[in-house]
Formats: sequence, structure tokens, C-alpha cells
Amino acid sequence: MQNLIPIRNVGDRLVDPFQREYYYLRLSITDVCNFRCTYCLPDGYKPNPERDKFLNVDEIRRVAQAFANMGAEKVRITGGEPTLRKDFIEIVENITALEPIKNVALTTNGYRMAKDVEAWRKAGVSSINVSVDSLDPRQFHTITGENKFFEVMQGIDRAFEVGYEKIKVNSVLMRELNYREFDQFLAWIKDRPIQMRFIELMQTGEMDSFFHKQHISGQILADKLLRDGWQLQQKGRSDGPAKVFKHPDYVGEIGLIMPYEKNFCASCNRLRMSAKGKLHLCLFGEEGIDLRHLLQSDEQQPLLEAAIFSALQGKREHHFLHQGDSGVRSNLATIGG
Ligand code: 5AD
Ligand code: SF4
Repeated sequence: MQNLIPIRNVGDRLVDPFQREYYYLRLSITDVCNFRCTYCLPDGYKPNPERDKFLNVDEIRRVAQAFANMGAEKVRITGGEPTLRKDFIEIVENITALEPIKNVALTTNGYRMAKDVEAWRKAGVSSINVSVDSLDPRQFHTITGENKFFEVMQGIDRAFEVGYEKIKVNSVLMRELNYREFDQFLAWIKDRPIQMRFIELMQTGEMDSFFHKQHISGQILADKLLRDGWQLQQKGRSDGPAKVFKHPDYVGEIGLIMPYEKNFCASCNRLRMSAKGKLHLCLFGEEGIDLRHLLQSDEQQPLLEAAIFSALQGKREHHFLHQGDSGVRSNLATIGG
């Protein structure tokens, strides 16, 4: 049979068989996290000293370089908790130096933000997503396992002080844990330039009854927002899958991330690299393709790019979460949500 997989030519961009183009890399730099979020690592991160060899700065630079060469404009650094790495600033500086990357974003739990956000900004972090699952300090502690609510809030204030004009805040809405705070979250962003992102709980391999007890459909929230005068915005090409809503009376915005929605995958524009060098084409439902052996020297760059390109030709059109297939992902800490 004829081989129909296209071969990559130098300069080819990252396009999959469904004509989706990938402008956006999510790069995990560690699996380690110091929080124990109920929906992610309820028992905390379990170290595995023999296997915990995360990509070093050079390997990370080569990954980002390959994506940059293929047209990626945005890299999001995730974890685990990426800011736990001692060489975090150096990693950021290496990525910001690459053309045509315009945007180096960070996802963090915010525990060091008050102290370090100024240094992050100087190193070139252009946007920040921080998790705040509750505005009540005790509930925050219950959900995350850490009594760090006030530190995180100070971190957000500090981020505005050092020059960030907008901050994205993530909250996984759960029926019994924080859904009752929905109106408080809205009140909180009335006068603050925050994009408040409500993320629909995703089922992972480590949860079962938790999911069924806590899951709330994002559609319910979307209907509520529309009823209350929020307006759905158009998307830009490197925007993520969030549905963004604005309201004339609010400075802040709402983002809804609804992975179970029918067309969620149609706008997929991201690929993921794990902290150990596996390329993941989708958040769910696959093992990842190990590319670490191609990250060992700068001379391997063309091979690395060819491998990424050919892997992309195997990307599926959509995930199978609707059918209860949570794939092999036991939690999202290895791949950064
Ligand atoms: N469902 C939804 N979001 C999750 N995250 C982690 N685990 C899950 C899950 N099971 C997201 C959180 C956090 C980000 C790092 O990953 O929103 O903000
Ligand atoms: Fe850590 Fe983020 Fe997972 Fe919470 S969601 S345990 S902060 S990796």
C-alpha cells in the first residue's frame, strides 16, 4: 500500500491531517508539585528518585527551538509546579530568546508568586495563569491541601504591581467544594482585570466516584452567564479552547473550558511535551511518544523536527472522553492540564 504520511520539508509548519495548525506548545518542566489538589494529586506528589530525571535546560531549549522553527508562537511552561525548579528563570530566558516565540506563558499554583513575580517578568514571562479554587481561605486549604490562600492573593496583587495588565485565574468548579462560590468569583472580578477561567472537572484514571459526585457541566454555566447579560467573544487563532465572555459592568472576563463539549477539539491548537521528553498529541487517550533521545545535541534538531511532524500526522480528530475513556493519564500533574 502507498504510504500517505506526508514527509516534512524544511520550513513546513505544524499542520495535522485535519488541517489544524499548531501555534502553541505546552511544555511541562517537572512533575513535582507541593500542592495536593483534590482533583489532581489528592495524596500529594510521590517522588520516584530513580525515574525523576526531568529534562535539563539544554533539552528544554531544543524542544522549544524545534517548535519555534516550525512556527510556534507561544510556549506555556507548566508542571507539576514549574516554579519549584531552581533553574526556572534560566529556562524562561532560554525560551524567550527564540524566534518567533512571542509569548511565554506560565501556569502556576502561585505559592511563590508574591516573592518572585518580578523576577519572572524580568526573565520574560509574558502571561500568567494561577489557580485559585476558592476565595475562602479555609476552603482553599481543603481543596489544595495547603494553607496558602493569602500568599496566592498577595501574588496576584504583586503581579499587577510589577506590570502585568491581566492575569488569568483557573478554578476547577466542583459541585460540593466551590460551586456555591460562583457569584463570589464574579463579584471578585467586577473591578479587577482578571480572566476568571472555570474549568470543567475532567475525569482521570485516579478518580471515579469523585468525578461523578463533583462534575458540573460547563453548559449550565454558559447558559447562566448568557442569561445574566454576559456576551460570548470571538476567538483569535492562538487562543485556547476557552469560551470567553464579557459584560459591560465588569472589568474582568470569564473563560469557560468545557472539554466535554461537542466541538471542543475542533479548535485544538496545542501539543504537549512532558517533563521527561514525551510528546503528547492530546491531553487524553494516548501514551506519548518518547523523543528524549533526539534532545541530546543541537545537531539532532532536524531529526527532532521531522519526528514531531510525523507524530502529528497520527493525531486523532477528537478525544473519547464522552465515552468515559480517560485514557492512560492517571492525573494531570505530569502534563500540566
Ligand atoms: N480536571 C480539570 N482541570 C484539572 N487540572 C488539573 N487536574 C484537572 C482535572 N482533573 C488543571 C487545573 C489547574 C491546572 C494546572 O490543571 O485547572 O489549574
Ligand atoms: Fe499541583 Fe496543579 Fe495538580 Fe494542584 S492542579 S496538585 S497545583 S499540579
